[in-house]
Amino acid sequence: MLNCKPLHSLFAAEVVGVDLRQARDPAILAAIRAAMDQYAVLVFRDQPFTDDEQVDFATRFDGKLHTQTSLSALGANRFGNEALTDISSVKANGELAELADRRRLSILSNRLWHTDASFVDPAGRYSLLSAKVVPEVRADTEFADMRSAWDALEPDEQTRLSGLRVFHSIVHSRHAIGFDFAPEEAARLPGAVHPLVRTLPGSGRRALYLASHASHIVDWPVPEGRILLLDLIEHATQHAFIYRHIWQPRDLVIWDNRATMHRGRPFDDTRHRRELRRTTTLDIAR
Ligand code: OGA
Ligand code: MN
Repeated sequence: MLNCKPLHSLFAAEVVGVDLRQARDPAILAAIRAAMDQYAVLVFRDQPFTDDEQVDFATRFDGKLHTQTSLSALGANRFGNEALTDISSVKANGELAELADRRRLSILSNRLWHTDASFVDPAGRYSLLSAKVVPEVRADTEFADMRSAWDALEPDEQTRLSGLRVFHSIVHSRHAIGFDFAPEEAARLPGAVHPLVRTLPGSGRRALYLASHASHIVDWPVPEGRILLLDLIEHATQHAFIYRHIWQPRDLVIWDNRATMHRGRPFDDTRHRRELRRTTTLDIAR
């Protein structure tokens, strides 16, 4: 039913011939969800969403949206809707953010490997990222397939990891790059515990659930758990597991946060305008 062109040997595909703003038929939405179970990252070109259309589509596609974002804890959402995360190099007034701008410094941590909204419970399921303004320099996003990363582990290692639980906190991941929330901001971001290995209901495949937000293994000494998490992130982000997306204006990329990690690649954001909007859905049983 869907025309999917694979973009990588393990995951990620481009879907051709669908206008998501018009996609209302339950059969189309179900076909896109099934393709998400297979590919984990889907690219749709030429989707000129307005903000309202993006929120409507995300809600129609998967239900409830994540609003407890780190940027909401910093205040000042320029769209007046916490479900729309401003993934941009500009300030609320639309001008390029300066070097020391706090929003900018917080967003810089998107350049660490992560999954969205692993620091809340329920965690993030799908993220939908819409490109409005793409700079003339490359500013790509990389995705890593956490199902392939799981499959590639030795059986003994798989047994050792099964059943472990991980504490995720955005206060931790920001602190790791030297960005600290004020106590009243941090109080709005308490963190959450999730399994290290999850079985994905749609495909039955297992996946490592990792992120920069993953702080430590519950019930383990912190340094020991942190070293294991760093080792696993290194394993899971080998070249063979990575798809690199080169943005075009009006791209809409959907990824499954349960099955992938992603990171933004560096570019000079104090000189180049880049504006994307993200909506993330919550992993609530359907
Ligand atoms: C995000 C994100 C990376 C990028 O939107 O969640 O991590 O390249 N983006 O902007
Ligand atoms: Mn992200």
